[in-house]
Amino acid sequence: MGNILSGKQILLGVSGSIACYKAADLASKLTQQGASVTAVLTTAARQFITPLTFQSVTGQRAFTDEDLWGSEGHIQHIGLGHQSDLIVIAPASANTIAKIAHGICDNLLTLASLAAPCPLLIAPAMDSGMYTHAATQANIKILRERGVYIAGPAMGRMASGLSGFGRMLEPTEIIGHIRLLLGRQAGKLSGRHLVVTAGGTSEPIDAVRTITNRSSGKQGFAIAQAAIDQGAEVTLIAGVTHLPTPIGAKRIDVNTAQEMLTAVLETVQDADALIMAAAVADYRPETAVTEKLSKEQGIPQIQLTLTPDILSAVAHYRAQSGYPRVVIGFAAESSDLIERARQKLARKKLDLIIANDITATDAGFGTDTNRITIIDPTGNAQVFPLMTKEEVADLILQKIVPLLEAAP
Ligand code: C5P
Repeated sequence: MGNILSGKQILLGVSGSIACYKAADLASKLTQQGASVTAVLTTAARQFITPLTFQSVTGQRAFTDEDLWGSEGHIQHIGLGHQSDLIVIAPASANTIAKIAHGICDNLLTLASLAAPCPLLIAPAMDSGMYTHAATQANIKILRERGVYIAGPAMGRMASGLSGFGRMLEPTEIIGHIRLLLGRQAGKLSGRHLVVTAGGTSEPIDAVRTITNRSSGKQGFAIAQAAIDQGAEVTLIAGVTHLPTPIGAKRIDVNTAQEMLTAVLETVQDADALIMAAAVADYRPETAVTEKLSKEQGIPQIQLTLTPDILSAVAHYRAQSGYPRVVIGFAAESSDLIERARQKLARKKLDLIIANDITATDAGFGTDTNRITIIDPTGNAQVFPLMTKEEVADLILQKIVPLLEAAP
C-alpha cells in the first residue's frame, strides 16, 4: 500500500490571497511525502508569490496565465488536469471559487479545473465578510453538491487583524484532507469500520496525580492515519496523548482503562476490525481520593487493583455477536517477547498479535521507529527489520485486508 501521497500527481492551484505563503509550504510538504506537485498561479497569486518559489520547492515547472496564451496553451489547459490524480486549490479566493462554481474559465487554473476529470479539493482563504457573504456561500454550496471537497476555512486571526471565519487551513491539515479524499477514491478498506485504540491510560490516585505509562500514542495514531489512507471509517479511542487527530477520524478521548473499555464495547458493535494499540494500565488505585493528598497526611499507602482486560471483554462480546470481525492486539515486552506474545494471542483470542521489544532504544514507547514480530494463531512468527511507525501501520493494514476478506 505505502504512503498514499507517494507517486500522486497533484495540480496545486494558487489564487490571490495572503495565504499564498502557506501554499509554498504545502507544495514542499506534499513533495517531501512523495507527490509530484505542479503549481498553477493566477495573476492575483503572482502579486503575493512567484512561480520560482514553487519550482524551487517542487522541482517541477510552475505555470501561469502566460502559459495559457503561449504556443502550447491549448494543450496545456487540457493536459494539466488530465495528468493529475487530484487538483488542490489552496488558497482558493472568493473570486476563483465563484469562477469555478459558474464554469468561468478565463485563466489557466479555472480552465484546467473545468477540463479535469479528477477530484477537486478547495481550501478557501478570504476575509470573513467575503466568506460569509451569501454569494460565496451559494457558490460553495454549488461546488459541494457537485462533489467538490471543501477543506476549511478555519476560524482565527485574519490579515486585517480581525478575527473570523476565512483563514486557510494549515498545510498539515490540508494534507490530512487530501489523504482522506484520496483514500475514499480507491482505498482497499473502503466501506470498512476500524476501531483503533492508542496511547496510555491514566488511573487517578488523587485529584492531581495519576498512574500512567510512557506510551506516546504514535503507533496507534499512525495506524488510524494509514486506515484513513485506505478509505476506512476510523474511530480512534485515545488515551493520554497530545497528538493531533488524523483528519477524518472520529476521536474519543478517554482516561482510565474502564473508560476505554466502555468506548471500545460501544464502538466495536458494527466494527470490521479492532486494533488495540493502546498501552492499557493493568492496575489502578483501588480508591481514588477526590482531594489532593498532602505531605502532612504522610506517605500514602496505595492499594492497587486490577483494571478490566479490554481484549478479554471484546473476545467475550465477539463470541456472542461476531463483532468485531477481526481483532489485533499488541504485546510490548522487555523479556521472553515471542513466548509471552503467543500466550497473549491465545488468551485474548486474537487474530494477530504485534510483538515489540521495548528494551531496544529504537523501538517501543515514544520513538518514531519500531521493531515488530507478527504472530498468527498457528504460532507462526514473522520478524521484521527496523521500520518507521508509519511503515508498521501500513504493514498491519496489509495483514488486515485478507483477514477481513476471509472473516465470516
Ligand atoms: O498489557 P498487555 O501486554 O497485556 O497488552 C496486550 C494487549 O492487550 C494490548 O493490545 C493491550 O492494548 C491489551 N490490553 C487490554 N486490556 C488491558 C491491558 C492490555 O485490552 N487491561
